[in-house]
Amino acid sequence: MAASTLVSSADLGPVSRGLESARFRKSRPDRSTPPAAEVGSASPAPGFHFELKPRDVKTHLDRFVIQQDEAKKVLSVALCDHFQHVRLTLAGQKAPFYTKQNVLLLGPTGVGKTHLIRSAAELIGVPFVKADATKFSETGYVGGDVEDLVRDLIRRVGGDVSKAEHGIIYLDEVDKLAGSDTGGRDVSGKGVQINLLKLMEDADVPVVSPNDIMGQMQSIMPRPGQPPREAGATINTRHILFIVSGAFAGLTSHIRQRLALAGKEIPGGRDADLLDLAVTSDFIAYGFEPEFIGRLPVRVACQPLGENDLYDVMRRSESSLLRQYERAFAAYGIEVKWRADGLRRIARLAATEGTGARGLMTVCERALRDFKFELPSTEVRRFSVTRELVDDPKAALAKLLGD
Ligand SMILES: Nc1ncnc2c1ncn2[C@@H]1O[C@H](COP(=O)(O)OP(=O)(O)OP(=O)(O)O)[C@@H](O)[C@H]1O
Ligand SMILES: [Mg+2]
Repeated sequence: MAASTLVSSADLGPVSRGLESARFRKSRPDRSTPPAAEVGSASPAPGFHFELKPRDVKTHLDRFVIQQDEAKKVLSVALCDHFQHVRLTLAGQKAPFYTKQNVLLLGPTGVGKTHLIRSAAELIGVPFVKADATKFSETGYVGGDVEDLVRDLIRRVGGDVSKAEHGIIYLDEVDKLAGSDTGGRDVSGKGVQINLLKLMEDADVPVVSPNDIMGQMQSIMPRPGQPPREAGATINTRHILFIVSGAFAGLTSHIRQRLALAGKEIPGGRDADLLDLAVTSDFIAYGFEPEFIGRLPVRVACQPLGENDLYDVMRRSESSLLRQYERAFAAYGIEVKWRADGLRRIARLAATEGTGARGLMTVCERALRDFKFELPSTEVRRFSVTRELVDDPKAALAKLLGD
């Protein structure tokens, strides 16, 4: 019984428990017919409706992501601007000079960049795909083809192109695309940057890849129960939001150099604070194409997580890994109690790992792996994670079993 109580109390549920105000309706807006609403009208779009305000998004993100206040605010505004624009466009409002607010997230590993975007996408209710920029190549022969990202969005929503057309594409490790001529890649990251340019703005991508022979066959002869796809069907990317991220470790030296040349004061302190000062010329000096970096007008840096932040990640985040451990033990009817001194110790050790919140998992795994192996086959029904346990798990386990 204890097990089931524990599971339900620990199960915080999916992010979708949050504010749910943007959802798709079935119909696909038809661009070939004139919009139902008059220009300038803000009546609800037939295919998409979105009512969130930036503060709603930030409040939601606060439940899952600790710190990163600036990134949360900037993201909330960019996401709301984008999806309000999508809604108004679909309602018939024209905005011929609108520039898409694609986002560049900078910051070290494991501090919540992906977590932020994933949580936001779940709240907004739009499809989301994530990929590493390193898996793409200029030609698509060696790595993937960047257009596959858009097709992945379609797959994510079971083939519904109209939903995929308002998705979010998240590309990690974009810093690896810079100056890659020396990076030992078969083809340059520069080519990948160029391939991304059109996609990030407004491109029509074939729904079935020209290289996908099976897919081409299936669109001619659909499987039983599958609707036939119109030949040459495409998906448009103008409403797909692109968010890219990377650690940009070497960027700070370009920032320092620029500030020094201009005779400006170079702020001391952490490199991460310096990243906030990055301007377009720094990214170009780092090895990005001006056209690429120019299409990422919203830029914000995530900060490293200190020991106290890591403690909060465990204690306050609804996505805390403690819930994962509680569930794992609860499956065998075992209750875990987390003592404050134990959590403090975990946070301290995790901070020394230098991998952000990922360090928490490393430390917990080390501390609890013997407990996970031994306890399910014993009579023990509860135990506490204390500082002593974290420092010497073997001794703590022996004592628990002895008792
Ligand atoms: N600020 C945070 N608040 C709460 N949890 C966090 C935070 N940062 C990271 N985490 C946890 O750590 C895990 C890894 O974080 P995430 O994937 O967001 O890292 P990242 O910044 O994208 O790193 P990388 O650059 O290596 O991709 C997340 O799944 C989440 O559980
Ligand atoms: Mg990530």
